[in-house]
Amino acid sequence: MAKAKTKITTTTTTVTTNIVAKPDWQMPGILAEPVEEYLYSILPPRDEVLAEMEAEAAKRKIPIVGPAVGRILHQLALMIGAKTVFEMGSAIGYSTIWWARAVGEGGLVFYTDGDRKNADQARGYFERAGVASRINIATGDALELLSENKQEFDVIFNDIDKDDYPRVFRLALPRLRKGGLFVADNVLWSGKVAQKNPDHTTKAIMEFNRLLYHSKDLFTTILPIRDGVAVAVKK
Ligand SMILES: C[S@@+](CC[C@H](N)C(=O)[O-])C[C@H]1O[C@@H](n2cnc3c(N)ncnc32)[C@H](O)[C@@H]1O
Repeated sequence: MAKAKTKITTTTTTVTTNIVAKPDWQMPGILAEPVEEYLYSILPPRDEVLAEMEAEAAKRKIPIVGPAVGRILHQLALMIGAKTVFEMGSAIGYSTIWWARAVGEGGLVFYTDGDRKNADQARGYFERAGVASRINIATGDALELLSENKQEFDVIFNDIDKDDYPRVFRLALPRLRKGGLFVADNVLWSGKVAQKNPDHTTKAIMEFNRLLYHSKDLFTTILPIRDGVAVAVKK
């Protein structure tokens, strides 16, 4: 992690301190900062490929879920023995690898992203991570790609543009198997969901959260880690 020298000037003195710069994907703001720091400090190191992706994401400001949330995704898939995951918004494939390692041999993760360059880069990472054979890469609108694919999934993970979250809810719910998980990132949106006068995007996320909590077909909890992860199980 990069260290930046920062000059702090008070009325009487000027001091220079070493401040550890946080990668953008860590997104502090929901949990108290020392607690967030602690949660990241206890994470086991990632393998070379994930570590390189984290560094690349930090450098290019790609909003990956990061390792704390990556572990949640992986654990959720293990808990229900997931074999099929449909991921909406995969970017360079960081979260995809966490899913792919959880579904194991014979499992299949559907990578989707609107940006072909992301998909090309992700392909290289999947090969190096040894999970390419478990990942189906498709580019285009994730909502359309989900509509075209007629199967039911063990997990659907939503991480596309936030304005589309309510539409994703309506489309994804019928495509989950009973006992399957609907998971979504950024549902606390840097805490903006709790502020007055929410903007259009925040309103879309708030509507999405309302739909999740009030659906008679789902049981939902929001985990307030990083930027908020919604986990809903289909009854
Ligand atoms: C937050 S990033 C995904 C990060 C990824 N899940 C991870 O944690 O490694 C969101 C991605 O969704 C893609 N995206 C946004 N809206 C989309 C849509 N409607 N269909 C497909 N991809 C979309 C963007 O190109 C971007 O790469």
